[in-house]
Amino acid sequence: MESRLERLRALREEARLGGGVERIAQQHRRGKLTARERLALLIDPGSFQELGALARHSMSDFGLAEERYPGDGVVTGFGKIHGRRVAVFAQDFTVLGGSFSEVQAQKITRLQDLALESGIPVIGLNDSGGARIQEGVRSLAAYGEVFLRNVLSSGVIPQISVILGPCAGGAVYSPALTDFVIMARDTGSMFLTGPEVIRAVTGRAVTAWELGGAEAHHRRSGVAHLVAPDERAALEQVKLLLSYLPQNNTEDPPQLAPFDPPDRMEPALDTLVPEDERVAYDMQRVIDLIVDEGSFLAIQPEYAPNAIVGFARLEGYAVGVVANQPAVLAGALDIDSSDKIARFVRICDAYNLPVVTLVDTPGYLPGVEQEHGGVIRHGAKIIYAYAGATVPKIAVVVRKAIGGAYVAMSSKQMRCDLNFAWPTAQIAVMGAEGAARILWRDELRRAEDPAAREQEFIAAYRERFFNPYHAADLGQIDEIIEPHETRPRLIRALEILRTKVQANPPRKHGLIPL
Ligand code: HXC
Repeated sequence: MESRLERLRALREEARLGGGVERIAQQHRRGKLTARERLALLIDPGSFQELGALARHSMSDFGLAEERYPGDGVVTGFGKIHGRRVAVFAQDFTVLGGSFSEVQAQKITRLQDLALESGIPVIGLNDSGGARIQEGVRSLAAYGEVFLRNVLSSGVIPQISVILGPCAGGAVYSPALTDFVIMARDTGSMFLTGPEVIRAVTGRAVTAWELGGAEAHHRRSGVAHLVAPDERAALEQVKLLLSYLPQNNTEDPPQLAPFDPPDRMEPALDTLVPEDERVAYDMQRVIDLIVDEGSFLAIQPEYAPNAIVGFARLEGYAVGVVANQPAVLAGALDIDSSDKIARFVRICDAYNLPVVTLVDTPGYLPGVEQEHGGVIRHGAKIIYAYAGATVPKIAVVVRKAIGGAYVAMSSKQMRCDLNFAWPTAQIAVMGAEGAARILWRDELRRAEDPAAREQEFIAAYRERFFNPYHAADLGQIDEIIEPHETRPRLIRALEILRTKVQANPPRKHGLIPL
């Protein structure tokens, strides 16, 4: 018996070391932690239950059959984060560069299946050179197995991908299919085709960092939802993000003990929106003053910054916040912000988070590039997402809510439950300049001083329509509230809606304009 136990212990020790002591030192020299070090930082101490530690690769080609790679480049198991169960896999770069193999897929898919059946979030720590080249097509099929489960789990259990090293080739598609991608700025990179292939095919020289570093995916591609300065911070972001999410789509997100008074009035809001409508202000400040202090977690903050989306708490309850940012592009909606908003609303709807929308947008961004880029199709996603969402929805029109953007941004017709407006709101079918030119075209043509006359018309139009009272008359706004009372009004509204039940017509699935 003793010798059997000794053999098990020896195998376990071998598994613990992955690619071996030298490879671990190499990983550290690359400025990266090992898979097990990462798990130790992520998972509550003592809670990790490993599965498949002794799984061995199935390669028979390229003379590797006799070599042992315990764990085969990935550590998988279940553990707890702040006492809540999670399934987690961490790719081990010390074993053949964390490359993705048939056995690695078996381990990950086993975890995905168990997590889906038990309603537990899955977290993947990625650090891999992509498909294991020695395994050829087998590793492609293996990716397919993981992708399938990513899709079947989508909207059922939260899936979070953390990019802590390279994530190359087809490896990018599993993270892309998950709900959130978090990148470590100093070590993470993602690209479908690397710099060498790009140079060979297109002649363009680009570094790996420029191509697929955190900056590229945070600011330009929108692939990364959160970026952390380093690995440790990225793992902390996983914990923070999870605190806003339920375990699965049948549960509510956890409520934290409220610490910020629910009846807190905020006089600063009364003067925050400038009198002159051409003067911008920072919508982030509005959000920060309304939600539980310090509770806002921005998602994709650097991507399409003309829209703000993120999680926050009101009286300890998690909510999704969507807002236009008038400080960027005057808060106009464009292709990228449409995608950003629509995806976020659908995440909230999938995971039972009420959506609070703060509106200040002059409309969809005019422009040939926008039209040819498909702003019609992309902009429609916002409508689709809001109209289809059955979670509680509350909107506050802070300033401009003009034209199609008014309808899209959680209007009553999008089944928004409660629509508030500040007295500064301007709810109108189109901007004053355009409207004046169309309505009074003949008069302007005949006018002695057309420019002066136009200004008079614009002022008259503004006076008549640029307020919230017309919309309130028509019942499209439920209540005009004073800015300082926004927090208590939202909290009371959410309390009313907490037991909301709403259903959509039965169907296989809708056809969101992708
Ligand atoms: C097998 C791999 C590997 C891979 C790396 N290694 N990638 N082994 N298959 N895909 C091995 C290396 O040979 C090396 O082994 C060890 O891992 C560490 O790699 P290094 O190159 O020394 O590390 P580093 O300098 O940090 O560079 C990391 C890297 C680079 C950027 C990831 O290794 C690289 O470019 N790898 C190939 C990436 C790639 O083209 N992947 C696409 C595969 S095709 P030794 O023993 O020498 O130390 C694909 C399609 C899938 O993914 C489609 C699915 C739908």
